[in-house]
Amino acid sequence: MTHDHHDFDAPSDEDSSFASAALAGLAGSPKTLPCQFFYDARGSELFELITDVPEYYPTRTEASILSACAGEIAAETPTGSVLVEFGSGSSRKTEILLTALDALKAYVPIDVSGSALDEARERLSTRFPNLIVHPIVGDFRAALVLPDDLASRPRLGFFPGSTIGNFAPREAADLLRSMAASLALGGRLIIGVDLRKDRARLLPAYNDAAGVTAAFNLNLLVRANRELGADFDLAGFEHEAIFNAEKSRIEMHLISTRKQTVSLLGRHFDFRPGESIHTENSHKYSVSDFGDLARSAGWTPRRVWTDAQSLFSVHELVVAG
Ligand code: AVJ
Repeated sequence: MTHDHHDFDAPSDEDSSFASAALAGLAGSPKTLPCQFFYDARGSELFELITDVPEYYPTRTEASILSACAGEIAAETPTGSVLVEFGSGSSRKTEILLTALDALKAYVPIDVSGSALDEARERLSTRFPNLIVHPIVGDFRAALVLPDDLASRPRLGFFPGSTIGNFAPREAADLLRSMAASLALGGRLIIGVDLRKDRARLLPAYNDAAGVTAAFNLNLLVRANRELGADFDLAGFEHEAIFNAEKSRIEMHLISTRKQTVSLLGRHFDFRPGESIHTENSHKYSVSDFGDLARSAGWTPRRVWTDAQSLFSVHELVVAG
């Protein structure tokens, strides 16, 4: 099956509401629904389950790389630094760094979910009683404003999970540039980036045998039915994950199994048999290609850590002077 490949990637500010994003995405050709809307309560639960399926290697591989390099990161982190995490969610992986970074003054998690931040603050304040936890509710692409007592301290950014892979290279560079501005001169960023590898390893990670990723993808339609009054027939769409070699990315699609019409917010959208809704891109980089991207966005790559099988990479970038 072939699809047109569309670069919708970057979740932009105008797209912040699911309704307007869905109307625009389904009116387009090819049809799209942006991946930022995967994470309702059920979607977040399904993503957590994905991180435990045997085929999905990124989460556990990144965690083991971080455990191995946390001491080296800590050794270069000045006493009194502030750790800023972009899109912190539950802050689970951060505990690996926080345990090693005993010279840290404060942790600033940024996330759109106030409830995830509340939960993280509670847990981390108990586990790290000497650490100031200062959550910021909002979009991690916005300019960072720190309280006065933290503003002049050295900043270490953290952006794990290969979330950067969800953005097309140009948008990824824009995001890296805004992080460089937020972390200030001399600032550093620890960023997780999934590596390009064989299809044989990549495809099962996005099409696990237990069907968890399929359920995660289809949950977008469940959410549209519930929140937007859509009438997607879940039996009429199938999960598909392909590797687009030219763009070096996994693409997730929902494929209409037949000719059908779906209504949503008073509008009607016709589907041909085999027609796709493109729901996610997950870009895969070589170490050197990601280094080039970082350099183009105001960063100097400093160190990089990978696992023995070269599945995943953790880069340390420094704001270029
Ligand atoms: C959390 C965006 C990095 O692209 O691998 C997992 C999301 N999608 N399985 C990824 C995801 C399908 C994941 N990121």
